Amino acid sequence: MKPDLLMVGAMFKPTQAVLEDSYIVHKLWEAKDRDAFLASVAGKVTAVATTGTRGIDDAMMGKLPKLKIVSHFGVGVDSVDVDAATRRGVKVTNTPDVLTEDVADIALVLMLSAIRRVPQGDRYVREGRWPQGPMPLTQSVQGKKVGIVGLGRIGKAIAKRCEAFNLAVSYTGRNKQAGVAYAYYPDALSLAKAVDIMIVAAPGGAETRGLIGKAVLEALGPEGTIVNIARGSVIDEQAMIGALAMGKLGSAGLDVFEKEPNVPAELLALDNVVVQPHVGSATQATRTAMGQLVIDNLAAYFAGKPLVTPVN
Ligand code: 8YV
Repeated sequence: MKPDLLMVGAMFKPTQAVLEDSYIVHKLWEAKDRDAFLASVAGKVTAVATTGTRGIDDAMMGKLPKLKIVSHFGVGVDSVDVDAATRRGVKVTNTPDVLTEDVADIALVLMLSAIRRVPQGDRYVREGRWPQGPMPLTQSVQGKKVGIVGLGRIGKAIAKRCEAFNLAVSYTGRNKQAGVAYAYYPDALSLAKAVDIMIVAAPGGAETRGLIGKAVLEALGPEGTIVNIARGSVIDEQAMIGALAMGKLGSAGLDVFEKEPNVPAELLALDNVVVQPHVGSATQATRTAMGQLVIDNLAAYFAGKPLVTPVN
């Protein structure tokens, strides 16, 4: 008999198709009355598949008394209440490693694009402005110092790329890491004072909310750059808009936002900002590998085998 799986939001199509073959899938996002829908499946749902911002909170887990496993499509589990899951004896899995290199690539793309004004150059050519003269000169990336906030797997992959670009790397995080040669700073402010470019690669959630505020952004300075491939919540977005608008911060390269997919118009009005629609992991190969982990973790659970990528 196929187990009952609650899917909170539409998933990467090939992954969803495989899950629909192996489970009785209940689609929460299609329900008109969420509570009534949850009540109707509460007696049978043992597994949940979550994605991105559509995670699962304590209240929702409370409505699913038979829940045993939450398989999350994504490495960041800030939308899943992991502590509540642990307390309730619910296993949580995520999709680490398979997305590390693609996300690190986008961090470098955003850094280079923000400083060398790549989208602006593209617009310059397309809008026919080139024949009237060259576009304004930009700053150089060379000679800059990069500070990474959160030197986890993705942070380290970004650091490696920065080294290839001749950039001195330092970092901050919860702890100084043994065996890491990059200079460590105990907090974001002291790191910001020491570097020109700050790349945010820390997990989201309550612990890092607003970690990068006005003082940190202004410490990067008028020629400084902020890059965020982590979570919009880690940066105080209004403070960032203010600093960029007043020239107290030089530029920004952003893949994530506080209220995505909604991006403040004031941010988009700024020419020193380069944006992407949260595409760090959005390649065919990586999304396929992430989906496979969602599938494999669920399969392992129902086969009584060890989970492939457990979080708790
Ligand atoms: C995805 C991500 O965009 O893995 C993460 O934490 O933010 C991204 O890979 C997202 O999880 C897709 O659901």
